[in-house]
Amino acid sequence: MRTQVAIVGAGPAGLLLSHLLHLNGIESIVLETRSRLDIEATIRAGVLEQGSMDILNDAGVGERMRKEGALHHGVEFAFGGRRHRIDLLELTGKAITVYPQHEVIIDLVAARLAAGGQILFETGEVALHNIDAQRDTERPAVSFVHQGEARRIEADFVIGCDGFHGVSRPAIPANLRQDFQRTYPFGWFGILVESAPSSDELIYAQHERGFALVSTRSPTVQRLYFQCDPKDHVDNWSDDRIWAELHARLEHDDGWKLNEGRIFQKGIIGMRSFVCAPMRHKRLFLAGDAAHIVPPTGAKGMNLAISDVKLLSQALERFYKQGSEDGLERYSDEALKRIWRAEYFSWWMTRMLHTFADASPFERQVQRAELENVVASRAMSTALAENYVGAF
Ligand code: FAD
Ligand code: DHB
Repeated sequence: MRTQVAIVGAGPAGLLLSHLLHLNGIESIVLETRSRLDIEATIRAGVLEQGSMDILNDAGVGERMRKEGALHHGVEFAFGGRRHRIDLLELTGKAITVYPQHEVIIDLVAARLAAGGQILFETGEVALHNIDAQRDTERPAVSFVHQGEARRIEADFVIGCDGFHGVSRPAIPANLRQDFQRTYPFGWFGILVESAPSSDELIYAQHERGFALVSTRSPTVQRLYFQCDPKDHVDNWSDDRIWAELHARLEHDDGWKLNEGRIFQKGIIGMRSFVCAPMRHKRLFLAGDAAHIVPPTGAKGMNLAISDVKLLSQALERFYKQGSEDGLERYSDEALKRIWRAEYFSWWMTRMLHTFADASPFERQVQRAELENVVASRAMSTALAENYVGAF
């Protein structure tokens, strides 16, 4: 098989890249290890920045998001027994939309298939070859097994959109890349609940028992998270224990109550910050979680995947339309500027909102003072809001 751009991974990064390239007349094939059913049902992110919404709208895949997504003009921070609202719209002129990642995936898969795009699901043994091929003499290639047959795609470029555990990043020789990373001593326990939302806007809560987050998925489904031990197991958490923990962390004496309902999904995610630099090796480019991970506190992961592939699609367009490699040369540096700002924001939010078991009494007081500053100072609220909506 032969194509212009071989894309490994059908997450938001790979699917959107394939779609953006198609809109510019550039051919691609997407390889995905999982089934269509699986990728369309995996519960992950929920928050889209205004810039991500604009990219999806401009690409013609925003119709359902506009109809079914919930536009949020503000966000709340709860600590010390009180809730404080940060008005995103007033401070930045921008907002966020809560629209689940798997719905974005459903929209992108539908758009690719409607346009005759090729997504090869359930591929096995994916391996990259000749990524340091000289142009015009050799081509990079991806080999894989599909429907029991060994296959190979030759392409001009290979794009690794295969997430943190994929095969693309390790294909860059270890001595030619630098990995920056930090793991956190806690994880998030996430649940989906059949009930009306408890709040019109997201609530990020700092509490001595640990962080908690109230989000939504639809008018009948809530998404709730709470800080937990990353090595804990969902079986240790009965529904009653989960509700007791969430009530303790979220409710104060202001009369606000968390709605309970049937819990129909439970999971624990670990938390890390990670950046691989550069995000390119010769004819291989990385985008999304394949190149970087943020802890979920800043809600940046899916948004970074979207902004990476927007940049990369523009660079590939310049290459194919004008024969210029400038955009490709600059891709890694340009993407990394935004990525490091999101890494900073996600780390800052994580540090400010979670309970660190080894924090000294002094550090706990300073952490609280930082939150007080953020909500009391218009300048600090604005800085938080700008980062949260991605206003740069
Ligand atoms: P992925 O979505 O990981 O997609 C990679 C794809 O590649 C997968 O489908 C995988 O099956 C496939 N693959 C892997 N290996 C191979 C291979 N060898 N060959 C072929 N295919 C392969 N981000 C936000 O912006 N906002 C949020 O609110 C938010 N909340 C989150 C909550 C949770 C619980 C989690 C887990 C994540 C959250 N994130 C959030 C992060 C966000 O989900 C990720 O950053 C996003 O999925 C990255 O997209 P991606 O396309 O780069 O990678
Ligand atoms: C959601 C996830 C996040 O990481 C976050 O910061 C806010 C909301 C969510 O899944 O709804």
